[in-house]
Amino acid sequence: MSKLNDQEKQALVDLANEARKRAYAPYSRYQVGAALRTKSGRIYTGVNIENAAYPTTICAERVAIFKAVSEGDKDFDVIAVVTENGGTPCGSCRQVMAEFGLDTAVLVADSKGQVTMESTVGGLLPGAFTPEDLQRV
Ligand code: THU
Repeated sequence: MSKLNDQEKQALVDLANEARKRAYAPYSRYQVGAALRTKSGRIYTGVNIENAAYPTTICAERVAIFKAVSEGDKDFDVIAVVTENGGTPCGSCRQVMAEFGLDTAVLVADSKGQVTMESTVGGLLPGAFTPEDLQRV
């Protein structure tokens, strides 16, 4: 579970909700915001960025993760994801999260900032294929 206290969790959710306003989602109109806290204490936000060529769209979670990794910051603590209705991370995002650790806490909240689900990456993707699997071949 999350290594943050309730106040820190709410602060991360609020940041994700604030980021959500910057979502570029003219096609689905489904705005998603994410806020990723790394063990270094830094926070990276992300939003979904859609494209007229629909499959080119990228989810909020992956934007936040790729921002962190591209800054050399890849030890994750918690990721908060906010949508209008508390929708949960998609399969592709779960897989990308799994690459960086199954123990990362995942907070899902709705647009009121209410946490609707609290889990871990491992909890969201049981039996995940991870970098360890490649070391066994
Ligand atoms: N979306 C995310 O940003 N994260 C998810 O985990 C689920 C889906 C976005 C992608 C697309 O822009 C919109 O939500 C509708 O699928």
